[in-house]
Amino acid sequence: MAGKLDRLTRRRLLQGGAVLAGGAALGSAGRLVGQDGSLIDDFGGKQAPSGKAEPSRLISRPVVISSANGLKAIETAMRMLKEGKDPLDSVIAAVNIVEDDPNDHSVGLGGLPNEDGVVELDASVMHGPTHKAGAVASLRNIKNPSCVARLVMKRTDHVLLVGEGALRFARAHGFKEENLLTEDSRKKWLKWKESLSKDDDWLEEEETPKGAGGKEAVPFTWGTINCLGINEKGDIGGVTTTSGLSWKIPGRVGDSPIIGAGLYVDNEVGAAGSTGRGEANLQNCSSFLIVELMRTGLSPAQACMETMRRIAQHTEKRLRDEKGVPDYELSLYAISKYGAFGGATMRGGGKMAVMDKDGARLVELPSLYPAKEKRGA
Ligand code: GLY
Repeated sequence: MAGKLDRLTRRRLLQGGAVLAGGAALGSAGRLVGQDGSLIDDFGGKQAPSGKAEPSRLISRPVVISSANGLKAIETAMRMLKEGKDPLDSVIAAVNIVEDDPNDHSVGLGGLPNEDGVVELDASVMHGPTHKAGAVASLRNIKNPSCVARLVMKRTDHVLLVGEGALRFARAHGFKEENLLTEDSRKKWLKWKESLSKDDDWLEEEETPKGAGGKEAVPFTWGTINCLGINEKGDIGGVTTTSGLSWKIPGRVGDSPIIGAGLYVDNEVGAAGSTGRGEANLQNCSSFLIVELMRTGLSPAQACMETMRRIAQHTEKRLRDEKGVPDYELSLYAISKYGAFGGATMRGGGKMAVMDKDGARLVELPSLYPAKEKRGA
């Protein structure tokens, strides 16, 4: 099966001429070369002829990566992977720490609410060894949507439950309901609401000038946590969980609970996930595309950058700045079967959390475009 994969990849490369859709090319020595001229082999991204990870080519396993807000949490996932726990259970345990943290406003308890001031959560999980997935969207009152998503995967014949149905399913499985809106996130929402228009009847308590514009005064944010883990054997688990776009239209669902957009795992190739503007990922099936690009031989970093380039190409004019550069946050993360990892961000300044044999740390993400200049700078 895996040998077949490798032959398929080779045939596609030859049929497509010397240049891959991903921008990688076959170098003069017939080796696969990335856009930056680096040999793909150097990143460990290429499929082994046997399709099985070859020990000599392994970069390091186990490995856990996440968005930067998972820096502390990935230690939990790594400990569990080393204890031989299931890779999906390990990454879910990690993101539960962030979902439970009222001070992280991107997810779970204390997540920023929709335009009515109600917190609605989205999450998806995917288990490499079985290729099974589960997800929930627009889930209210339950702080760990990733755990509900795992139960959708394990205890139903479905992949995605939404809204009232997801809540009833969670209740049936004994999840505790609570108000997820903390005082801090309520105040942030109120400030956004009060600064929206100078013509409405909402008056502000403090410094934001009336009608300064919600977008300027209290920006929209897309905070999320994505976490991907691979154990020593090469089995992969992935999870993405979020409160979604702040101040969203009630019922809006982002990329996080959509398999192939905010998360995708293929145990033979690797896994990918994302944080940031969900609509951009939904329109480009980003996580699936990253994994498929890795299947053709690109490294995780190269696959993420190529996907980012496609997203940028497809970005409509109203979402670009005066220089024509996409003007939103977006970060992509990926790991390969070999334990290689990488990511990309639309604009500079992004980081990802990594834990491998060298410990837990933040790593700078390569960006497609430079960071936005600060106004007045
Ligand atoms: N990526 C999170 C969202 O757009 O909802």
